[in-house]
Amino acid sequence: MKKAVQAKFIKTAILNKDYPIIRSPSGDILPEVAVVGRSNVGKSSLLNHLFEAKHLVKTSATPGKTQALNFFSLNDQIAFADLPGYGYAKVPLSVRKEWGPMVRSYLESRESLKLILFLLDIRRIPNEEDIQFLEWVLYHEKALILVLTKIDKVNQKELRLNTTKILDTLSLMNLHHLYYSVPKNRGRKELMIMIQEALNDEDKQE
Ligand code: GTP
Ligand code: MG
Repeated sequence: MKKAVQAKFIKTAILNKDYPIIRSPSGDILPEVAVVGRSNVGKSSLLNHLFEAKHLVKTSATPGKTQALNFFSLNDQIAFADLPGYGYAKVPLSVRKEWGPMVRSYLESRESLKLILFLLDIRRIPNEEDIQFLEWVLYHEKALILVLTKIDKVNQKELRLNTTKILDTLSLMNLHHLYYSVPKNRGRKELMIMIQEALNDEDKQE
């Protein structure tokens, strides 16, 4: 019988002092995986899909849906943080101004953070903002998995071509990457395996 997936919503927070401490039933602090990327790239949808839950994480066709940090746990083993996306001009400047420091402060201070899922839309060549963000994450030496999303929107030829263009732009040919599609149900198993492996590697290094 297939093992049931149990995802829980833990908390919404903006300030460091409000971040939850997420523990396993035996009291250990859970390793945390953060999902980052441009607005509308599919961060919240990927988490729902990973959790096999339709509406646990709020998603929207309008970019700028997620405006705070949202914390979840999966099977009492892994914590997840859904972050607001960057780069959406229509979100009021006053709101956007708070997102940069909010995301930065989370990434810099969250001790349980072990892995970053960096999402890029397969149809878009990364721009300066994407590159800057990625360089900054790599500078902090966080483990990172590149997830190319919405692959149902391209054909096989475009998939190959765009992958090359994206990886060339990032000049990170040896970065772990995988393809994801929510409607096509692609990527879930591979991503779970990659997450487990990355967390195991992190564990060994400590
Ligand atoms: P913000 O919270 O604004 O940063 O956006 P987000 O990255 O969380 O994106 P969200 O998950 O809310 O999805 C944005 C839109 O993309 C929604 O309309 C989703 O239905 C759609 N979407 C997400 N994943 C996929 C996918 O794999 N394929 C397709 N075709 N659409 C997707
Ligand atoms: Mg979102």
